[in-house]
Amino acid sequence: MTDISTASMKRLWEESFAEQIALGAYNTSPVEALIRTVAYHLRGRYEGEVLSHLSFLEMGCGAGPNLVWLAQKGIRVSGIDIAANALDLARTNLERHGVGDRIGDLVEGSVDRVPFPDSSFDGILEACVFQHLDAETRARTFAEVQRLLKPGGVFVGYMLDRGHTAFQEKATQQLPYDPGSLHLADGSSKIHLTNIGLAHFFSKEEFNDLFQGFSVIDPCLTTYYLPQAEARKRGYDQYLQSMWTVYAVK
Ligand SMILES: C[S@@+](CC[C@H](N)C(=O)[O-])C[C@H]1O[C@@H](n2cnc3c(N)ncnc32)[C@H](O)[C@@H]1O
Repeated sequence: MTDISTASMKRLWEESFAEQIALGAYNTSPVEALIRTVAYHLRGRYEGEVLSHLSFLEMGCGAGPNLVWLAQKGIRVSGIDIAANALDLARTNLERHGVGDRIGDLVEGSVDRVPFPDSSFDGILEACVFQHLDAETRARTFAEVQRLLKPGGVFVGYMLDRGHTAFQEKATQQLPYDPGSLHLADGSSKIHLTNIGLAHFFSKEEFNDLFQGFSVIDPCLTTYYLPQAEARKRGYDQYLQSMWTVYAVK
């Protein structure tokens, strides 16, 4: 059964993807900070090895650029996404890159209820997905990460930090019952996070709670300024993307 909040999240993201497809604006490049962190992890543990025995999941895989990168390393890849049109793109993208044979499962569903057994994965990735979940869904989702990873498995996530311009400008409007969260919606394009509904900006301290029991919890800050023309398009003079690349080992 699909609850109302899941149904509205699904509608929002399918609309966002429809707009991105129409404009040819969906993400086709792997998220650099994310895959570099995965590469450091693999390099330290599986030097020179064939990686086909590893199985990774991306939660909220979108059009699949991070999955393509993993599959090109030989890793078996699975993805879950709430938007059916995004999953279609992910499958096409993997096949177009000649790595369709490395697909495990691509399933439509929400990251807080993932239909795979406990300890299914050696690695789990997420990029710019967990930051759009409300507090309860967020807690269930991090519990899913804990459940789905094998002991020694790695999680790498890429999510908003409170130093981000969008947070700094509106910090006084944080939701009192969920500090760090803002409702951002200006009624225009759903391509940017400033119009995707709830956005949660994480503090470093939160990760210790969310990854309780992990042997490594290492959130690393990644910041860069957008080019000025792009910042102005979004209504700012300067726009700092401040993101956590969270590296955690179960
Ligand atoms: C900003 S996109 C990022 C896509 C991909 N991770 C990337 O790096 O290109 C966010 C993705 O998360 C998906 N998503 C949002 N909420 C979700 C949820 N509750 N469960 C599963 N997927 C979700 C959206 O449909 C979208 O594909």
